[in-house]
Amino acid sequence: MTTSAESETANRPYSPGLEGVIAGETSLSFIDGEAGRLLYRGYRIADLVRHGSYPAVANLLWTGDWDPAHRLATSDVPPTVMTILRALPRTTKPMDALRTAVSAWGATRDLPWPPTVEQARALTSFSPSALAAFARLRDGKEPVDPDPSLDLVEGFLYQLNGERPDAGTARALDAYFVVGAEHGFNASSFASRVVTSTRSDIASAVTGAIGTMKGPLHGGAPSEVVDQLSQVESAAHAEAWVREALAKGERLMGFGHRVYRAYDPRAAALREVAEGMDHKPDWLVLATQVEDVALRILGEKYPDRPLKTNVEFYAAPVLMGVGLKPDLFSAAFSLSRHAGWTAHALEQAANNRLIRPDVNYVGPAERDLPDLTRPPDLTRASASPPTALPSNEPAQGGATNPKPARP
Ligand code: COA
Repeated sequence: MTTSAESETANRPYSPGLEGVIAGETSLSFIDGEAGRLLYRGYRIADLVRHGSYPAVANLLWTGDWDPAHRLATSDVPPTVMTILRALPRTTKPMDALRTAVSAWGATRDLPWPPTVEQARALTSFSPSALAAFARLRDGKEPVDPDPSLDLVEGFLYQLNGERPDAGTARALDAYFVVGAEHGFNASSFASRVVTSTRSDIASAVTGAIGTMKGPLHGGAPSEVVDQLSQVESAAHAEAWVREALAKGERLMGFGHRVYRAYDPRAAALREVAEGMDHKPDWLVLATQVEDVALRILGEKYPDRPLKTNVEFYAAPVLMGVGLKPDLFSAAFSLSRHAGWTAHALEQAANNRLIRPDVNYVGPAERDLPDLTRPPDLTRASASPPTALPSNEPAQGGATNPKPARP
């Protein structure tokens, strides 16, 4: 039996995973998968990487204003948060440590709704310090205080390694942060908006977003590119390795995309930056050589389906090249996405409507609870699953013979 309300939702279109559903409006970013375009507030990602920096891009996302000279340094980790980071087991996953740190940071502050640009800025400048502190603590090293003279990404590397990075290294990671800053209604940004829509605070929104990004379907791919590149070992071996992998039905990590049919513009921007590095790490050289071979062979195998380089392919060698351990990759991605998550929180709050979709009910029809005062009928207990018992009818002999039958 279905009520009229149940049948009404059942007749409405349902798209698993909300695929293809327009779930909101944004002026933050535009993705054109066919043409391989990504715009932040109308500006091309390649131009933002070339002429901007992560703080400038974050400010653009938060305010809509383009100020290439905008600066943002990392900030102190409050003592309460540091105490919690010190208490975490060394085996804690960096994403868990970052999620915990952001949640604890929220507990140390008054974060009234609606969220503000100042709150977004404060949280975005806190998290790199927290991640760097945790990464050092787990290695038995003391955290390094922020250097306010350094911009956010350079400051993060300084607090992570205890020494200032060279300009090329800082630039490469900054480019990665720029391309990772925002990407439409991805799962974690949507999570940030859902939390914000309840009038919860910005730290809760970002805590939820980090938890969402932790899943391997969202934030986990670049370390697999590293695995594959290390299997390839050398450019001379690339063609044989790629052909063998495809013959075994394996996927080449860092190629193909659900949305982009053209070369992922984020990969193009990262490749350009990587190739401009003064000290190209071996990883980058190998990656560019393997990419050429992989694109040629994928083109031969799938002449009608464009399988191009995606952002993960160049994220991996850039992150390795700047000296991050692979288990920090997802957390570094999360640091970069702070700009987008907090910008989505601001945008949601500015025109808020509680996000509360409908759902199709597919469970049992309305029914009475079973009569638990009736002694169980042991002759039926093992033969029938409980849900198969008609709840409003007496079990066989139950009403007239309350004693269980003897075997
Ligand atoms: N290597 C080899 N073959 C690939 C491939 C890859 N990276 N990506 C897709 N294909 C092939 C599939 O095997 C499939 O071939 P088939 O028709 O012979 O079975 C065909 O292309 C279509 O694949 P499909 O899974 O429908 O494409 P998709 O657009 O849904 O998948 C990805 C997108 C990203 C999941 C997919 O390209 C992939 O697994 N890439 C590798 C992982 C990766 O880089 N992830 C990071 C994404 S940012």
